[in-house]
Amino acid sequence: MIKFRNKDTMPAMGLGTWKSEKSLVYKAVKTAIEIGYRHIDCAPIYGNEKEIGQAISECINEGIIERKDLWVTSKLWNDSHREEDVIPALEQTLEDLEIDYLDLFLIHWPISLKKDVYLAKSADDMISLDEIPLEETWKGMESAVNKNLTKHIGVSNFGKSNLSKLIKSSKIKPELNQVECHPYFQQNQLLEFCREEGVHFMAYAPLGSSDRPESLKNEDEPSLLEDEVIHSIAKSRNATPAQILIAWSLSRSTSVIPKSTNEKRIKENFMAQQIELDKKEMEMISELDKGRRYLLGDFWVFENGPYKLKDIWA
Ligand code: A2P
Repeated sequence: MIKFRNKDTMPAMGLGTWKSEKSLVYKAVKTAIEIGYRHIDCAPIYGNEKEIGQAISECINEGIIERKDLWVTSKLWNDSHREEDVIPALEQTLEDLEIDYLDLFLIHWPISLKKDVYLAKSADDMISLDEIPLEETWKGMESAVNKNLTKHIGVSNFGKSNLSKLIKSSKIKPELNQVECHPYFQQNQLLEFCREEGVHFMAYAPLGSSDRPESLKNEDEPSLLEDEVIHSIAKSRNATPAQILIAWSLSRSTSVIPKSTNEKRIKENFMAQQIELDKKEMEMISELDKGRRYLLGDFWVFENGPYKLKDIWA
């Protein structure tokens, strides 16, 4: 369990829903809740919040869970960064998810897009951080807490520089940063910084997100799930490689949100919580760091556009 400042607790293990197909996600979320997951990670840009909402609402109506026992995270899309756009975007997410508050609401990217732009096709679709500073967006996030529409607020895909600025300027400090993290991209410096600042750290793409669309894949990508060291540890523990990857995130006291829409794998991933890796195994895995992101963020970079890769992750 991850403890927040007001003593709320978030289950460290959540179900990821990025890339979960609309037609499969309803069943996946219902199955996950029945198995024992109490933390679902969502975002409007994933295009499946209505189907997730249907599953959550049925689980509550059928008495499988109470709302208070479920941790629901969602995110603010990049086209709603103006202060006055934050609450309407959150209200739409709440309507789709069929709940009346979130447990955690995150700024999805330190990137602004024009209204109703989902993915940028050119620099014309983008707005610079000079025009809409993240501090302005954060004021909208803070008002979401004050209106009881979310219990906690945080960020996603923020590097140290963007995070520091918000920490300094905010009334309510960001409580969590959700970023890519796995043995090939261990993020030790950012993790250390978050720990020093009391910002929780959540790992996305813990299994390497190999179901990303081709447009988000790069040449010569190494496959985490096929890594020899991970396989050897899995074999010696009678576990699967995915379970070892999840157990590694949990052993570092970070939260983790593996995505699956397959019942067997949803269960398998949940069982990873029972594995406690020892010092030797953690050392073997720490040597696998390649500083290699799967999700480069280069889709936000255009010639003459307002964002440069090094600034996004700085
Ligand atoms: P599926 O949804 O068919 O189970 P990430 O969480 O890093 O984004 O990775 C998600 C990818 O990993 C998906 O392709 C998902 O496929 C697959 N996956 C999820 N759980 C497992 C598992 N236990 N073993 C192998 N692959 C898995």
